[in-house]
Amino acid sequence: MSYITIENETRIVPDQPIIPFIPGDGIGPEIWQATRQVLDAAVAKSYQGQKAIQWTEVLAGEKAFNETGEWLPNETLDAIKAAKVAIKGPLTTPIGGGIRSLNVALRQDLDLFACVRPVRYFTGVPSPLKEPEKTDMVIFRENTEDVYAGIEFAKDTPEVKRLIEILQQDFAVKKIRFPETSAIGIKPISQEGSQRLIAAAIDYALANGRKSVTLVHKGNIMKFTEGGFKNWGYALAETTYAAQTFTMNQYATLAKEQGPVVAEKAYQDALASGKLIINDVIADNMLQQILLYPEKYDVIATCNLNGDYLSDALAAQVGGIGIAPGGNINYQTGHAIFEATHGTAPDIAGLGKANPCSMLLSGSMLLDYLGWQEAASLVEEAIEAALPAKKVTADFAHSMTGAKEVTTEAFGQLLVDWIEKQD
Ligand code: NAI
Repeated sequence: MSYITIENETRIVPDQPIIPFIPGDGIGPEIWQATRQVLDAAVAKSYQGQKAIQWTEVLAGEKAFNETGEWLPNETLDAIKAAKVAIKGPLTTPIGGGIRSLNVALRQDLDLFACVRPVRYFTGVPSPLKEPEKTDMVIFRENTEDVYAGIEFAKDTPEVKRLIEILQQDFAVKKIRFPETSAIGIKPISQEGSQRLIAAAIDYALANGRKSVTLVHKGNIMKFTEGGFKNWGYALAETTYAAQTFTMNQYATLAKEQGPVVAEKAYQDALASGKLIINDVIADNMLQQILLYPEKYDVIATCNLNGDYLSDALAAQVGGIGIAPGGNINYQTGHAIFEATHGTAPDIAGLGKANPCSMLLSGSMLLDYLGWQEAASLVEEAIEAALPAKKVTADFAHSMTGAKEVTTEAFGQLLVDWIEKQD
């Protein structure tokens, strides 16, 4: 039993790694219980007892507050820092002045710069699309910059007055329409922050045989921040990843300098030699693209706010928040927290109605991150097998014809039974 360590950005995973878990508030404990059983069964089946996770509970959220008077005790952060990898259920956002959202606090304190959201369809899940199976994307959303850095100043404060004065007097800004009643938000987007996120997306795409990475941005309007994100992304691909990628920026340059036929040939050659294609799409167009032509998109790298909208829109396309997993990862330090992407669902807490799939699939991402791909796949396969059988939790049972509603616990047990029957 020991900790995961990192050497040269590579994870060294012992056979019995200590992994902290936060069951979470509301429906958290129910979905966690089901998830833990399934993950343990998948690991046991895949490695015949040679590997096993040593789960250790750490406190956060309401449970932490009730037991220690703190929403996010330092011991919790220390335990996750030491173990590198953790999993968490949803946490109630504390209401009251000066308390940061716990999720934001965890991401910021561990500098978990990539929010990774795989979005794929599972047969049988109710979806608003005619062909939901065409959606299979992985979103890499920047987690530390953009408007989410939280640099905002309220209307009428001395800070906002001073800022507006500096902008108007020192920078000759004339575009603040109502300076007397404005609040101001600042959106930092850096080359370093953008490139580490885009590098993570490209590395993922290369390691998983994906075909393209799409940089989603609003650079037509915000040229230096979002436009910077796009340009730095292309620059990174054309230098660090020159041998493995072909960019649509290169295509445009070739078309301009040598004509469209030469550019098209270079593109076709790149496709034929299996190069990863790096392209870009403006954010508003992307929201149309994912609905109209989802099969054209694969890995997406984007700034924080665009990623927020895209993640939820894509999750809805394949069946909603009950089934969308997520991970917040720093690929350089190795720190990663995998989590259900929905909230605590207080309206159904304690009733056995919660769908554990989001947490289960986050657990599958965790296993994959450990390099335990066999167990990760087994969890996904168990879900793939269970859903068409139509014994599902309340949320899915409502919209599936002929479905039988089962409790969270019973659904987890169905998956465990399926896993145990595999050869
Ligand atoms: P919510 O995601 O908890 O619930 C929205 C709706 O979806 C509810 O009708 C709920 O019953 C349903 N739902 C959510 N998860 C489900 C599941 N696994 N199975 C079946 N139905 C599910 O969002 P809401 O109500 O806005 O937030 C409740 C609390 O959760 C708040 O304190 C909020 O701050 C917190 N929250 C925490 C998050 C996290 O820890 N990552 C993310 C979002 C919200």
